[in-house]
Amino acid sequence: MTAPEVNRAFRHWAALLLALVPLVALAAGCTLHDYPQSSLNPQSDYAWSIQHLLEQLTFWVVVIFAFVQLLILYVVIRFRARPGAPMPKPVHGNTALEIAWTIAPAIILALVAVPTVMAIFKTQSKPAAGALQVKVIGHQWWWEFQYPELGVTTAGELHIPVHRPIAFDLETADVIHSFWFPAMGGKRDLIPSRTNHMGFTADSIGTFPGQCAELCGLSHANMRMKLMVETPADFETWVSGQKAPPAEPDSTSLAGHGKLEFANGVCITCHTIDGVSAGILGPNLTHFASRRTFAGSLFESNPHNLGRWLTAPQDQKPGVIMNWKTLGVTLAPEQVNALIAYLQSLK
Ligand code: CUA
Repeated sequence: MTAPEVNRAFRHWAALLLALVPLVALAAGCTLHDYPQSSLNPQSDYAWSIQHLLEQLTFWVVVIFAFVQLLILYVVIRFRARPGAPMPKPVHGNTALEIAWTIAPAIILALVAVPTVMAIFKTQSKPAAGALQVKVIGHQWWWEFQYPELGVTTAGELHIPVHRPIAFDLETADVIHSFWFPAMGGKRDLIPSRTNHMGFTADSIGTFPGQCAELCGLSHANMRMKLMVETPADFETWVSGQKAPPAEPDSTSLAGHGKLEFANGVCITCHTIDGVSAGILGPNLTHFASRRTFAGSLFESNPHNLGRWLTAPQDQKPGVIMNWKTLGVTLAPEQVNALIAYLQSLK
């Protein structure tokens, strides 16, 4: 090879290697154990019907892809131009071919359409008898969960028993949101002035992250939630904890001081704590300390994060209604500490 040829070959291989880098990086992302929000990790009947549909469609896609590629290879080799070969015979107006390539896609489309329509009906069906009713209300930007039969209201973290059908009524307090736990199935919108429905039966115990899936304003990405799938006994324990009255802090303690700050401050306009206040604009805080996360399941519940939140919520979650600047609220560090102690006492 001459020098320019070597140079060209080197550049050719270098470009090829560079092109492979993003592919390798992409493949490295496909670990099998760390997929908290993957929709390919089905944990409910609803999610499994989508998974089965996907597997079926992927099977046909692979069969068709392989068939077409082999056909192309065969045609390219078998009918390649040879020196002295005659002109190929035109196939225009060949009735047999026209019928074949009309019927073949029709059959393929039927193979795709039948399972798809079946899955649509299955995932829209009425909830089974004995389903647990849960009302989901979307707010900018947090999730409210009500259990009308149990008299429980909570936020951000949804507890359900394993193997029991859950019937969700989906509503919104403001704009369109979309309810989505990827491990449990597809998304469903919450639409102003109407109630949407959805149901699933979780088949494994665990904690699964969820996310609003419809652009709903400044903090759409911060509208998260957690699903706690529990044994029936653990779920019962959680329910009785939620139904109990809130903890009553000692009036001389820091938490007791925090209760006074809460009850005499701006907090009561938006938040409910049973027996203390009855606001409905913000999350119900009656058993705040029983939750692992807060503020749309955005932050782990600990004194450090609560301190940041209570000092300047508008800096933690853009657009939040609880904006001290617009509300004209100033909280001294002592007030923040007292409120943290009170909130953390609300087991
Ligand atoms: Cu609610 Cu996005």
